[in-house]
Amino acid sequence: MENKAELIVALDVPNREAMEAKLRELPGFIEWYKVGLELFCAEGPAVLEPLKKEGKKIFLDLKLHDIPRTVGHAVKTAAAHGVNLMTVHAIGGRVMLEEAAKAAAECEKPPKLVAVTTLTSLGQDDFTDLGIRRTVSEQALELGRLAIGSGIDGLVTSAHEAKVLRAEFPDALLVTPGIRMPEGDVGDQKRVATPSYAVGQGATHLVVGRPIVQAADPAAAATAMLNDMNR
Ligand code: C5P
Repeated sequence: MENKAELIVALDVPNREAMEAKLRELPGFIEWYKVGLELFCAEGPAVLEPLKKEGKKIFLDLKLHDIPRTVGHAVKTAAAHGVNLMTVHAIGGRVMLEEAAKAAAECEKPPKLVAVTTLTSLGQDDFTDLGIRRTVSEQALELGRLAIGSGIDGLVTSAHEAKVLRAEFPDALLVTPGIRMPEGDVGDQKRVATPSYAVGQGATHLVVGRPIVQAADPAAAATAMLNDMNR
């Protein structure tokens, strides 16, 4: 199956047992999996082994944000576990981002790094609380400039911001969560988009959790997503 963008399935489950049970239900053609904070904190790096054994690509979504040295070392350590893609917070600042990019580049198998500009859970009211006077989209663009200018490979963004970011950063990876089929259940996501819309706006990687992982037929749900991506 050929795609302009990659499909990444988010393994949002509490432990390894639940992950392995899920993997047995999920179709073999899924190449990318995302492991997040919950699963990684529960099980540590050993949780990546079943994925590596199956030759899967791993997106380790730990959203690193700390002093530059700590983030640099965390990137190196994670890369040694064989992950392909990782997240950092752009708000960590230029030196932290540069340190992360440098650390990745020095790895034997360098992971790609993508920066979160603004958590999708934050709205304009939260910005006021935080003393940020920009709009959410201005913040995405400005922090995007900071991250890409610091050597980060790409950005995590809602599909709705992707077009502007693609125009500004023609070569960046754009990772879009919040993907739903037109008839899909939105859950707690606020800014959702269909797979074909996200691809059309310039996304390179689509992150999908519940619509595939919790589907009665995960293979059919994943196939429908891929078909929509290819439209
Ligand atoms: O189940 P659903 O498809 O909504 O899952 C989306 C995944 O993407 C979750 O793992 C969520 O943590 C992640 N994510 C997100 N919004 C962001 C960053 C990551 O929904 N801004």
